[in-house]
Amino acid sequence: MPDKFYVTTPIYYVNDKPHIGHAYTTILADVLSRFHRELGDRVFFLTGLDEHGQKVQQAAEKRGLSPQDHCNDLAPRFTDLWKKLEISNDDFIRTTEERHKKIVQAVLQKVYDSGDIYQKEYEGLYSVSEERFITEKEAESGQFREIKKIQEKNWFFKMSKYQDRLIRYIEEHEGFIRPESRKNEMLGFLRQPLADLCISRPKTRLSWGIEIPFDRDYVTYVWFDALINYITAPGYLSDDKKFKTWWPASVHLIGKDILTTHSIYWTTMLFSLELPLPETIFAHGWWLVGESKMSKSLGNVINPLDLIEQHGVDAVRYYLMSEMILGQDSNFTLENFIKRYNSDLANDFGNLLNRVSGLIGKYFESVVPEAGTPTPADEMIIAQGRALGEKVQSLLKNYKVDAAINEIMNLIRAVNKYMEVQAPWKLAKTDLPSAGRVLYTATEALRLSAVLLRAVMPEKAQRVLEILGAQNSGLNWGGLKSGTKLEAHPPLFPRIEIEKS
Ligand code: ME8
Ligand code: MG
Repeated sequence: MPDKFYVTTPIYYVNDKPHIGHAYTTILADVLSRFHRELGDRVFFLTGLDEHGQKVQQAAEKRGLSPQDHCNDLAPRFTDLWKKLEISNDDFIRTTEERHKKIVQAVLQKVYDSGDIYQKEYEGLYSVSEERFITEKEAESGQFREIKKIQEKNWFFKMSKYQDRLIRYIEEHEGFIRPESRKNEMLGFLRQPLADLCISRPKTRLSWGIEIPFDRDYVTYVWFDALINYITAPGYLSDDKKFKTWWPASVHLIGKDILTTHSIYWTTMLFSLELPLPETIFAHGWWLVGESKMSKSLGNVINPLDLIEQHGVDAVRYYLMSEMILGQDSNFTLENFIKRYNSDLANDFGNLLNRVSGLIGKYFESVVPEAGTPTPADEMIIAQGRALGEKVQSLLKNYKVDAAINEIMNLIRAVNKYMEVQAPWKLAKTDLPSAGRVLYTATEALRLSAVLLRAVMPEKAQRVLEILGAQNSGLNWGGLKSGTKLEAHPPLFPRIEIEKS
């Protein structure tokens, strides 16, 4: 049986259009999905939109639209962008869909019936920007905006009941919260007594939400509603067989901004529902512009559409995936983008393609030559090529996407060096079969790299494989067939020339 891989992204708020930060998590999920499909796993890739709550209601009011009209108007901006970015999600969930509202209400009823929900009068500090009650300490940290004191009767989920169990669970499950630094952050947070979670909002204050089934004066707190999407989509309480196939999720990919809601709210909700926890919650870092997080509210966002327009989808995907060390923050600059494009894609990858296809064109009428008997120099490349698939696979198991890409690029760089040393253009004048052997070895390594890079650059890497007549080849050395006629092609990654000022 192939392994299953169920990956999720956060469901993004529809209060504005998507920016590079949203694109990043979604592309990351896509790259992991494509790698897993390439390796023969069954994949379920879920993304979607978070459409309830105060932020969305406010955004709709500002535009003079009903919240639902506002959501319907903005949703295509996300789905259109995902199409442009070659996102291969299997489902797209919107929390205003009937299928989701039904399950949220069923979950609330279930948790209520089990005795984990109660009502009480509450006074506390509330951050409108984060849509949650915060502690005094959090309020003082300066990380929260739009803080209000609120007093009202509300429904609460007994999160505190599960505190010890959660601590034990995190400690006993290596790789549950990743990276390690985030796990420690959560264990630190859990050293303080955990308060119960306020899961309702009185309709008098907020009407845009899912009605609480056992108290019609209230709607559900947006986070309690949103997190449930991860089980709604694979069929919780609606399709047992499907749900058994996919749950628990392999990984919830999130930004570090929403680590608490995932590793504390969501996990304790799952405990209460007696469901297994996801295998991994991976919190990546932030794309920064200068010193600050790229964010809608700061207005320093980079529009992915502009970048795609200018440099192509694959270049954008490649940059985002290779530039950010997964788990750490990264600075987004156009200068870095162009640097990386020129060095990795134009110089290393693109150049290797141009060289081998040019030389095979010149000396072999564009027909892939015989592999011949490898020399020790060839064997070095062959060994590196043979080991690549497994190396990449094990890096991906640890979510080291940037390192996996670098590993592939290392092979390409090694082949470029090998070409310089072997100089098949010189060999061709005296020993044509040897020139053919070198060109075969180099082209085969290029093919292998392209198979793996297809997860990152679905269009361009596929194009390389088409040029080599090897679309359906796999990760075994020798997938390139001697005698194949190479397709003519323009340079796939023309250099970006920077205007000197
Ligand atoms: O939090 N760098 O939605 P949201 C990297 N609806 N990633 C970034 C980023 C940046 N500068 N900015 C945003 C919500 N992201 C909730 C989620 S899930 C049940 C509910 C990405 O629209 C990153 O994945 O604010 C972050 O966690 C997410 O967008 C927040 O999106
Ligand atoms: Mg946010």
